[in-house]
Amino acid sequence: MSMPSTRYPLSLRAIHWLTVVAVVAAAILADTEEHEGDEGNAVSSVSAMPWHYVAGLVVLLLLIPRIVLRIRAQVPPIIPTPDRFTALTARLVHLALYAFLLAVPLLGWLQLSYGGEPLMLPWLGWQLPALVQPDPQAKELTEELHEVLGNVLYGLIALHVAAALWHHIVRRDNTLKRML
Ligand code: HEM
Ligand code: HEM
Repeated sequence: MSMPSTRYPLSLRAIHWLTVVAVVAAAILADTEEHEGDEGNAVSSVSAMPWHYVAGLVVLLLLIPRIVLRIRAQVPPIIPTPDRFTALTARLVHLALYAFLLAVPLLGWLQLSYGGEPLMLPWLGWQLPALVQPDPQAKELTEELHEVLGNVLYGLIALHVAAALWHHIVRRDNTLKRML
């Protein structure tokens, strides 16, 4: 007997919530450089930013199995079925989330490579390869884009979380339970 599943597969639920933790960590750690810069505390800015890179690279790493698993997965239906406008909006926001989860960390990596800065992982001491040759102009552009698109991603996440709560509290459907 195979019952239709009422939740996302465990693998996708695990990746969803691990991504949440990694994005929140990256967001908190992204600010450390500016604040420490203001106080002129160069020592701690050197120690905190690599953890921003680690958190961001975890986001990137989780995206690869996620997309493969998502394509193969049977996504459990939302009950009661949302109207077509809601379903289409959800699709667009999810696609945008995936695009930004890919673009923002890649732009972070590109920014370091264009700046000629090594991407060193703390603890492991590994140095990841540069994606491109140094280029000061491209460094400026990717730095700006990384910050701006990072902030757009935060906005999308706020919208996404509001929608999840709206489904759960106002519409009282099973959207959120499927992801828990
Ligand atoms: C989901 C993942 C990521 C998010 C949401 C994110 C977001 C941000 C944001 C918002 C800033 C601007 C902070 C500020 O100036 O106040 C920033 C800075 C920075 N990020 Fe990321 N980032 C992510 C991943 C990465 C990765 C993977 C790398 C490198 C491999 C990276 C490298 C950098 C660098 C070098 C800066 C400093 C830019 C500067 O000098 O102003 N980021 N990040
Ligand atoms: C960093 C924050 C987050 C990111 C990047 C994120 C990303 C995503 C993505 C890309 C999907 C699409 C899954 C698919 O392909 O079907 C998704 C689904 C979902 N997320 Fe999030 N999410 C975040 C936070 C949250 C939070 C805090 C909640 C709960 C309050 C939540 C609830 C859900 C639910 C219920 C779904 C299933 C939606 C559906 O099947 O229509 N997410 N999330």
